[in-house]
Amino acid sequence: MSAQENHAMVRTVASTQSEMTEIILPNDTNLLGNLLGGRLMHFIDLTGAVAAFRHSRTYVVTAAMDHIDFIQPVRLGDLVTLKASVNRAFTSSMEVGVRVEAENTRTGAVTHVASAYIVYVAVDEHGRVQKVPQLKPETPNEIRRYEDALRRREHRERESARRVEAKLAVAARAEAQEKPQQSGSSIH
Ligand SMILES: CC(C)(COP(=O)(O)OP(=O)(O)OC[C@H]1O[C@@H](n2cnc3c(N)ncnc32)[C@H](O)[C@@H]1OP(=O)(O)O)[C@@H](O)C(=O)NCCC(=O)NCCS
Repeated sequence: MSAQENHAMVRTVASTQSEMTEIILPNDTNLLGNLLGGRLMHFIDLTGAVAAFRHSRTYVVTAAMDHIDFIQPVRLGDLVTLKASVNRAFTSSMEVGVRVEAENTRTGAVTHVASAYIVYVAVDEHGRVQKVPQLKPETPNEIRRYEDALRRREHRERESARRVEAKLAVAARAEAQEKPQQSGSSIH
């Protein structure tokens, strides 16, 4: 299928869904017996990438992960279930939402422990950016997430522009501070 044909396709949110369950073992935890944050981010990235694969049917790379709230600790021996689906597809990028729940194996109690939004970009085997199919939200929740994803993308773009401006301002200040010293040293 050509890149244009792939981009013209329309997929449903349901067709992108992915789910993963892990049992939390000693190697996954800190000295207090709680799941390590970095390990959870790894699970989140993998589950999100599967949803992005299912939508794009290409290779994908992680472009950005929004801040994650770790709402509750996950304990050694808990089951962690991650559920992901594509919220919105743009030209070559896709925003994926991931929800994480922990289940106490003895009581069966399930708690929401974290959520994250991740942006994946479709690429070919040489790392060149590829267009992705469009996403059709169907249920009220899918439509809400679809609309929110555009707002988050605009927010990310504003934040990215702000960071570039801040870096340029720091570089300009550093250059301005260096100049008088350079001219001063030439006097001696
Ligand atoms: C992500 C990457 C492919 C983008 O390449 P690029 O040359 O900046 O591509 P473009 O400027 O054409 O942007 C392509 C898309 O990526 C999106 N994008 C790029 N950087 C982004 C960022 N930091 N956050 C969110 N989206 C981003 C753009 O919005 C654009 O989306 P659209 O086509 O849907 O409008 C490139 O930056 C990259 O390879 N980064 C490293 C990825 C990586 O190693 N991840 C960790 C391991 S998987």
